[in-house]
Amino acid sequence: MTFNIVKVLFISLLATVSVNCAQNVTYSVVSYSSSERHSLAVMIDNDKTLYHLSVSPDTPYIFTGSAPMATIGYKYATISTFKQKHIEPFSRAPVVNATYNEVYGISKNTYLIPELPQTYPPLSSINRLSSGIHKDDQIPTLFLSGSKADVRNIHSNIYSKIKINLNLTYIGLSEVHALNAVEVKISGRGTRFSPKASYKLDFGKKGSLFGYRRLKLRSLSTDPSYLREKICYDMINSFGLASSGFSFVRVFINNKPFGLFGLQEDFDEVWLPNEFNNGDKANYNQGTLYTGKIRAELRYLGENETLYVSTDNPHKQPMYKIEEAPRKNGEKLAASFQRLIDFTKFLANAPSTEPNAVALWNQQIDTESVLRSLALEQFLGSSDGYIMAACNYNLFTNANQNDQLVYIPSDMDMTLGSSSLYNVNTTLYRRFEDHPKFNISRPLFYNILKVPEFKLVFNDMVASAYNNLELVYSRINALSSLIQDDVSNDVSIVRNYVVLPPYFIARKLIKVSIKEGIVEDGDAFLDFFSRTQKEKISFEEAVNGTINKPSLMGLKQWISMSANSYLKSK
Ligand SMILES: *[C@@H]1O[C@H](CO)[C@@H](O)[C@H](O)[C@H]1NC(C)=O
Ligand SMILES: *[C@@H]1O[C@H](CO)[C@@H](O)[C@H](O)[C@H]1NC(C)=O
Ligand SMILES: *[C@@H]1O[C@H](CO)[C@@H](O)[C@H](O)[C@H]1NC(C)=O
Ligand SMILES: *[C@@H]1O[C@H](CO)[C@@H](O)[C@H](O)[C@H]1NC(C)=O
Ligand SMILES: *[C@@H]1O[C@H](CO)[C@@H](O)[C@H](O)[C@H]1NC(C)=O
Ligand SMILES: *[C@@H]1O[C@H](CO)[C@@H](O)[C@H](O)[C@H]1NC(C)=O
Ligand SMILES: *[C@@H]1O[C@H](CO)[C@@H](O)[C@H](O)[C@H]1NC(C)=O
Repeated sequence: MTFNIVKVLFISLLATVSVNCAQNVTYSVVSYSSSERHSLAVMIDNDKTLYHLSVSPDTPYIFTGSAPMATIGYKYATISTFKQKHIEPFSRAPVVNATYNEVYGISKNTYLIPELPQTYPPLSSINRLSSGIHKDDQIPTLFLSGSKADVRNIHSNIYSKIKINLNLTYIGLSEVHALNAVEVKISGRGTRFSPKASYKLDFGKKGSLFGYRRLKLRSLSTDPSYLREKICYDMINSFGLASSGFSFVRVFINNKPFGLFGLQEDFDEVWLPNEFNNGDKANYNQGTLYTGKIRAELRYLGENETLYVSTDNPHKQPMYKIEEAPRKNGEKLAASFQRLIDFTKFLANAPSTEPNAVALWNQQIDTESVLRSLALEQFLGSSDGYIMAACNYNLFTNANQNDQLVYIPSDMDMTLGSSSLYNVNTTLYRRFEDHPKFNISRPLFYNILKVPEFKLVFNDMVASAYNNLELVYSRINALSSLIQDDVSNDVSIVRNYVVLPPYFIARKLIKVSIKEGIVEDGDAFLDFFSRTQKEKISFEEAVNGTINKPSLMGLKQWISMSANSYLKSK
């Protein structure tokens, strides 16, 4: 009621302004031309007059111009060279003075997204650069452009590591950044089965976007709700952990829509000082960053480093990797696995009920970083993290804290009811004591929770994650409105630019791997493969609906089922 009165007052106020001052508004709209050149115009109120917009002097992707202020609303229109007109099917609310950089065909610029509380303060080691890179309530647009042959080449060879150079224009609501010769390559393991690829962007030694040198564009193609990774990183942030942020971006390459992606930071020598030293590289005593790549159980294997990079596994990949060598004031130092080896040795005989157990553990590793991360793995039903798969985590030696390790979670696509290696029904909440992997094959998980003090803290952490459930649901609803238009564009893209092995051949190869025992649950993996390649699961169904596939449940369906298991377990 009050809202309506305010709205009427506001509209009549706008009307007065426009009549009295005949004020013009600067309209700016982002558009791309798919095949034909086109021009843009704006239509004010329901008047049929078209006010032409011209290409912005800042970037060819923005059309801008002056036109009267609307009293009812306005719409953008494209006019092709053949004078075909297309007018937006919705009206935009009147704006005073100047619009944002709006996007043609996307009905709203910003959304009200409920915030999750800061459940735990940031880890004491974190001193994160405030960069503005991730904006929750809006979707910036990225235009990549360059040689068509290069773009064709990386998509025809998605299993190789070809790097190409493309120019990038980032267009936010009120900012534009242009970067030349950005190195682009295809990335991601799971999404290489899917026609929609993930990418890595590298801006070079001197280049950066919002202070970051390398960024990832996550394809989101294994998740028909598009929201799982976002919700996971929101929880990670709410739990005060060191990790990447996550936000949505829409991507065009050579003026063709590539769809909706997740923007993430890559963990490199620029990210570490950004995360732990407020972006100051020059005055930073940076430790080593290790990654758990494959079967990285953190078992002590002896003192010989070669045992920790063994590729004796079906994926023929090293178990651990030194992601970043240590540095002092920007200068690279010699790297070794010694700190990691020492830690696995500690874990093999870790103290549990000794009176000084807590202190001894904390000398080795920031136990908050471990307990919070593992509590979230449980809450988020992660099937590809340390507990379930012994991978997708990082350990950073904090050189400013006696080489205390910090646990950094990563890769959150196989979560919240989406899974590939295991039946998704095995990812619902269960007490850690009942978890099938709660044994010496996961010495970090198993041993830390044998310490009575840590067990109490861990159970409290799980409880506080469930305390935020209502907010998680309202965030899911708000974020699904934010991405709705972009999701419907994303699913309509014909991705014939990617060359994949024919479906039936790939399926045969997968069946062979299943026979060889590479995948634990063959049914789940085959289901995952066929749904990411062939099946269309609607956005609405994926978020709000009930799905009972071996590799997928509805997003809210899974959360509420898992929450029920949690309540029952108490
Ligand atoms: C307002 O915009 C119209 C249409 O573009 C233009 O003809 C007119 O000159 C502008 N008026 C002012 C005061 O800028
Ligand atoms: C009006 O918009 C112009 C162009 O975007 C901008 O330069 C100016 O600062 C704005 N004025 C006010 C009062 O907001
Ligand atoms: C990138 O932009 C620069 C400067 O605008 C231009 O000279 C170059 O040709 C562009 N490169 C590509 C690959 O389009
Ligand atoms: C470590 O193992 C490798 C491979 O088995 C071997 O060649 C090397 O000599 C060993 N190093 C030491 C110091 O034992
Ligand atoms: C999960 O589903 C599979 C296949 O339908 C079934 O065999 C198994 O018992 C289920 N497991 C659980 C924990 O519900
Ligand atoms: C740990 O649990 C897993 C899953 O239940 C089982 O396959 C494995 O044999 C166990 N390992 C040990 C060392 O007990
Ligand atoms: C799911 O339902 C909620 C209301 O319960 C709605 O706000 C949201 O837009 C729906 N999501 C999708 C993707 O349809």
